[in-house]
Amino acid sequence: MHGGIGFASGPLPLDPRPARARLRPAMTDHTADHSLATETLAAAPASIARAAAVLRAGGLVAFPTETVYGLGADATNDRAVARIFEAKGRPRFNPLICHFPDTAAAAGAVRFDARARALAEAFWPGPLTLVLPRAADCPASLLCSAGLDSLAVRVPDQPLARALLQAVGRPLAAPSANRSGRVSPTTAAHVAAELEGRIELILDGGPCRVGLESTVVSLLGEAPLLLRPGGLPAEALAEVLGALPAAPAEDAPLASPGMLASHYAPERPLRLNARSLRPDEALLAFGPAVPSDAGPLVNLSPAGDLREAAARLFAALRELDRPGVAAIAVMPIPERGLGRAINDRLRRAAAPRERAVSGA
Ligand code: TXA
Ligand code: MG
Repeated sequence: MHGGIGFASGPLPLDPRPARARLRPAMTDHTADHSLATETLAAAPASIARAAAVLRAGGLVAFPTETVYGLGADATNDRAVARIFEAKGRPRFNPLICHFPDTAAAAGAVRFDARARALAEAFWPGPLTLVLPRAADCPASLLCSAGLDSLAVRVPDQPLARALLQAVGRPLAAPSANRSGRVSPTTAAHVAAELEGRIELILDGGPCRVGLESTVVSLLGEAPLLLRPGGLPAEALAEVLGALPAAPAEDAPLASPGMLASHYAPERPLRLNARSLRPDEALLAFGPAVPSDAGPLVNLSPAGDLREAAARLFAALRELDRPGVAAIAVMPIPERGLGRAINDRLRRAAAPRERAVSGA
């Protein structure tokens, strides 16, 4: 634990701006103060208590989940949720996932049906997000739904995240803790690089185990839809649903508003399915047969293990996206299991920027 403002006693020093500045309403404040003193705390009971206090007072806390780091706010507090959009520079039409400590709490916020129950039983806590109709008495701010009448709910499988959710006693709205359009963070250092000065606190729980965002499934219609391949392989879903969930139709963009915006994009271009290396390229390798080790190189998994590759993907993209590198050449990755989600992120990162797809 280090640095920062005294917290153990006295009022929460959430906003160091002068009182006059603090009167500006956060929801319309596009010149939000980005000079907060962001603290990083290591995992410890005192850190959790402090993070919970910051969240209950309307602050923003980045915390680890098993997938990626989330940028958390009290989902029941409009103003706190609005601050998420400001800190990330996220378009207001892109809804947020609400995180709950257990299935019972998540089920109370939405109209949970038999399919949801079966999926929750099989995969929660875990890297699966379910989109369901909001319950009449849904506690989550309407801002979480970004104008839709649905809510995305998830129960993460990470001890620090679960302890934090328990301690706050309220659902946490939490998108990935990156600036909108960038690669999701899988370490506390990644979060600091993206959001330093914009949030009150970062809980450091070490690197994320899964490394890819959760799989997002919509249960709004008769047939389940796979809105985003992710940390839970589609093959596992099929075992419970009886079939692989279909992707939304191309002409139904509102199925997942986040799929409209550019995302997962390093600054440098990506060249996919590379089998050789061009001058000035860095290599994102996979498997034992690496064509060249001439330039900067990260091997996602020398053994060809997709889980290991998923866990390393975002950190590797950040590492190779550096001065002196003209482009990042990516070796082929098998389109099965977690490989589907890895290839999804790589295709989005490689898409022409003005047409790039996906969610912040
Ligand atoms: O693993 C994860 O899911 C991480 C961790 C922090 O939980 N969170 C995350 O959130 O990746 P975010 O906001 O970066 O991505 C959420 C995706 C977006 O594409 C968003 O559009 C979609 O889920 N989404 C959220 N609510 C939705 C809703 N009501 N209907 C359709 N799509 C929704
Ligand atoms: Mg995101």
